[in-house]
Amino acid sequence: MAGPMATSSPWLPACVCHGTAGRRRAAGGIRRWGGLREGAQRRAVATDGPLEWQEASQGGAPHVSLEDLPLPEGDTGGWPIIGRTREFVKDQHAFMAEHVKKHGLVSTAKLFGTTVAIIAGHDNLQKVMSKDAGLLNQYFMKDFQQLSGPSSFWHKDGDDHMALRRLIAPAFSRAAIRERIPDLARTAEYWCSKWANKRNILGSEELKHYTLDVTMGALLGMAFPLNGKSLEDMYNELQIYSKGVYTFGIDLPFTKFGKAMAARREIVKMVDEGIERFHSNPELTGGLRRLIDEQDEEGKGLTMQELEDNLVTIIYAGFDTTALALTTALMKMAQQPEVWKKMKQEQEDIIAKHGPKITEAAIEDMEYTTAVYQEGVRVLPSLPGLFRIANKTFEIGGCRIPKGWLVVPLLGTTAQHFDDRWPGEADYCPHRHLTKAGREPVPDLAFGLGPHSCVGRSLSLLAGKILLATMARGYSYTIANPYQPRVYAPLPWPQDGLAMIVER
Ligand code: HEM
Repeated sequence: MAGPMATSSPWLPACVCHGTAGRRRAAGGIRRWGGLREGAQRRAVATDGPLEWQEASQGGAPHVSLEDLPLPEGDTGGWPIIGRTREFVKDQHAFMAEHVKKHGLVSTAKLFGTTVAIIAGHDNLQKVMSKDAGLLNQYFMKDFQQLSGPSSFWHKDGDDHMALRRLIAPAFSRAAIRERIPDLARTAEYWCSKWANKRNILGSEELKHYTLDVTMGALLGMAFPLNGKSLEDMYNELQIYSKGVYTFGIDLPFTKFGKAMAARREIVKMVDEGIERFHSNPELTGGLRRLIDEQDEEGKGLTMQELEDNLVTIIYAGFDTTALALTTALMKMAQQPEVWKKMKQEQEDIIAKHGPKITEAAIEDMEYTTAVYQEGVRVLPSLPGLFRIANKTFEIGGCRIPKGWLVVPLLGTTAQHFDDRWPGEADYCPHRHLTKAGREPVPDLAFGLGPHSCVGRSLSLLAGKILLATMARGYSYTIANPYQPRVYAPLPWPQDGLAMIVER
């Protein structure tokens, strides 16, 4: 899901326009790296009440009106008009982490020609994203909306979103995903053995092939060729498609956006053939069958347009996110070989107990392997945050966020650096997920929060751990350069594409 914040080109939301007047010293938070306490950042008057500001007339409420609250403080510096956009685009994760460290959990920054409100911290994010789900609306540039299609549930809000999500989510339920374990295990073995035969591979690219195969085959049950095209063809189309995200939406044959729209048309043709096959053959099973058959209370299912747009959304959303987390886990294990050894030992113990097949029971016992993957997601989330629009004026951290402002809920950055369960700058450590704090039932912020939270999370966790288990059981690997910089394209990939050797 190289979505909302994975931007490499400037964009200026026309609907966002606000001044900076009235700025006062907001409750700025304790400047404690990695341990910013949300409680310390809130004004008592502002946080004891519900999120929507209570007027004094409501009784028992604070005698301060929402309009009296200050706007958040932050960083108004940088270049004329674009502010800190260049620094942000260069390294989004580092920029946001430094920003929160400096300005607290609720702040502003000048990005892409406007002042945006930046919100971090578990409690703050829960408040704005799940406790009042109607507070923030989805915000995407027009080009991304066109690429996903008008019926994509990603771009819907409120009831429209819920109605579509109800029809789509069953294909991703834990029960539905677990049925796909044999396919996932076969897919993982197929790709590992292919890599071992090639020996020298670019790991990040290969992992994206694996995750695409997972979505198309293991999840949806669509077999290639589709419209005469192979998985490799779809991979190439998706690469072109993703380059059109956050361009200016000028649909000409030579623009990135024009090429991306052409790629979308090719992907839709492939998807259409898959849908047609399922319509004409009731024996076919898989997630696509559920998407086609699912109906609401009135007996209505997804229309053809909704199926097309949401399949494109799902395929794109699952394309590079899981691959990035696997890339991170493999790199980190090359830096910390004791983690790989421990994971290998766990797999040996599981084989001794359950036999060589990756079954549901075997997966239940893969505690450490799961933690290795989860830590890959946490330590470098796909996105530091998302972009939203404030649907109404609200209070957070003792500050006022006016209706119409662009808001950046920093889910990834909070998971990465500002999780109160492990304060301080936390490095890669799978064990943290097996501690008492790690087992607390708190939401996995890197996968989003609230109504739009990741529908593919269970699939991602399963596909991630099955790939790692397969590697640990029968393969070894060497990474050419385990300590290299990342480049955003549009997610943060290792500069050399993860040059590595896989051996059986
Ligand atoms: C490490 C892996 C992944 C991460 C970190 C991740 C992260 C996220 C996040 C943060 C969101 C929320 C976006 C928002 O609120 O606007 C999201 C939504 C979504 N994800 Fe994932 N994702 C991952 C894997 C997947 C996979 C494998 C699929 C499907 C094959 C998928 C499909 C989706 C879809 C369709 C949405 C939109 C849900 C909605 O709007 O209701 N994701 N994901």
